[in-house]
Amino acid sequence: MIFESFDLVSALATIAACIVSMALLLAVSQQLWQLRWTATRDKNCKLPIPKGSMGFPIIGETCHWFFQGSSFHSSRREKYGNVFKTHLLGRPLIRVTGAENVRKLLMGEHSLVSAEWPQSTRTLLGPNSLANSIGEIHRNKRKVLAKVFSQEALESYLPKIQQVIQDTLRVWSSSPDPITVYHESQRLSFHMALRVLLGFRLSDDEMKSLFHTFLDFVDNIFSLPLDLPFSGYRKGIQARDILQKSIEKSILEKLQCNHGKDYADALDVLIESSREHGQELCMQELKEFTIELIFAAFATTASASTSLIMQLLKHPAVLEKLREELRSNGILHNGCLCEGALRLDNIFSLKYLDCVIKEVLRVYSPVSGGYRTALQTFELDGFQIPKGWSVMYSIRDTHDTSSVFKDVDTFDPERFNQERCEDKEGRFHYLPFGGGVRTCLGKQLAKLFLRVLAIELAGSSRFELATRTFSRVITVPVVHPVDGLKVKFFGLDSNQNEIMAETDEMLGATV
Ligand code: HEM
Repeated sequence: MIFESFDLVSALATIAACIVSMALLLAVSQQLWQLRWTATRDKNCKLPIPKGSMGFPIIGETCHWFFQGSSFHSSRREKYGNVFKTHLLGRPLIRVTGAENVRKLLMGEHSLVSAEWPQSTRTLLGPNSLANSIGEIHRNKRKVLAKVFSQEALESYLPKIQQVIQDTLRVWSSSPDPITVYHESQRLSFHMALRVLLGFRLSDDEMKSLFHTFLDFVDNIFSLPLDLPFSGYRKGIQARDILQKSIEKSILEKLQCNHGKDYADALDVLIESSREHGQELCMQELKEFTIELIFAAFATTASASTSLIMQLLKHPAVLEKLREELRSNGILHNGCLCEGALRLDNIFSLKYLDCVIKEVLRVYSPVSGGYRTALQTFELDGFQIPKGWSVMYSIRDTHDTSSVFKDVDTFDPERFNQERCEDKEGRFHYLPFGGGVRTCLGKQLAKLFLRVLAIELAGSSRFELATRTFSRVITVPVVHPVDGLKVKFFGLDSNQNEIMAETDEMLGATV
């Protein structure tokens, strides 16, 4: 008996000793890890490196970032200030907030900093992507790609965009159950990117299977770069290979059979533009550009569409004011959108609609920021940014902390109207599409898509929240409500059209 209790005591003592030594080892290795990064500061520069924590060896603060989501950056910004250091996705990172700091970074592209995404993103997007190109090569690629988003190209996409949105809203309305807006918006933007933008003719089954592969790709595009069985990085690489194979097949089919098409899609424009610029693209470049365009459009527009629907639900007065604007511009009449009324010029002349989209993108900016690497040691906000360190400029935190926005947390589209125009105070307080030489190339296309969606929602849809309250919004991987936003859409039968027509009359619609 005595021996038995002695064994138990010694076993407990051994376990306790193991725990203590492991804790000590962890604490020491963590200290060494912090010192390792402090030692990489530029000794010739007298300024301190930014405050912050590098977390645990190798993984840094990646797990904190993943689990804390939106509060990760804001809690550290509150603790350490607008410029702080951390360690994410396998590398040291300085996170930067505030219009003046962001301006310095974005205007310093190619001299102070250069775009460099995390290793996982670079591998998955490929060496020919715009995201991985710098200097002259980047400039030339943008010139070729710019034609894809020209006014002429947008005119050509518009009827197809409207058609895809109308078809989608019809499907949503015919569903007897509420739909999950975020998931359905992902499908919608994937559909828009593949069928409208790229002109791929894929069967519904092919679309479905490609969509699931694409989700695997996107889910792992920001992962620890450890190529191990079952790691996110490995899954992402496998998804990329499958995507590239299917896309090559679709591109070849498209190139062989382009008859019967009534408009030029982005791939047609891209191929023509590359010939005009004397830079004919090889298949690998075409595949990487294609995947990059789908990636750039997919998560951002899905997030923005969800936020738009959420804000229209939360603010019925805004929805009603949108309807008024459509009526007074001859787009909405007797409760129906007028046939052929949507043209690029009149869509872009709707001032209130512009304010609504701008405000959605201010409050719920889909992209949290952009990655850069310091090309030389430089000063920012009183700190040194050592050469070779990664820097991330923050869009959402800059919007949230900007002094130019009155009642910054309030959804108020009028802040962007001609009288108030709160974003006129310097370009870098409001930057949902980034800035400088890497400003979003698809900005006009994204705005057009969101405007058409808002017009269709205001003009011909009836929808209500299917849950008692709105759920919490999370920001990783992009902004979206945690439950995906459950909404019941109703079909507009003739009875409802009549009710809307009566409202038109009561409001004295003149068209
Ligand atoms: C609401 C939707 C969108 C938002 C908020 C958005 C935001 C952004 C931001 C912030 C950047 C700059 C990243 C940086 O500084 O590194 C960017 C770059 C880019 N975006 Fe968008 N984007 C949207 C939609 C689109 C769409 C629909 C496309 C194309 C189909 C697109 C194509 C691109 C491309 C190609 C770049 C890279 C530009 C370069 O590196 O030179 N985006 N986007």
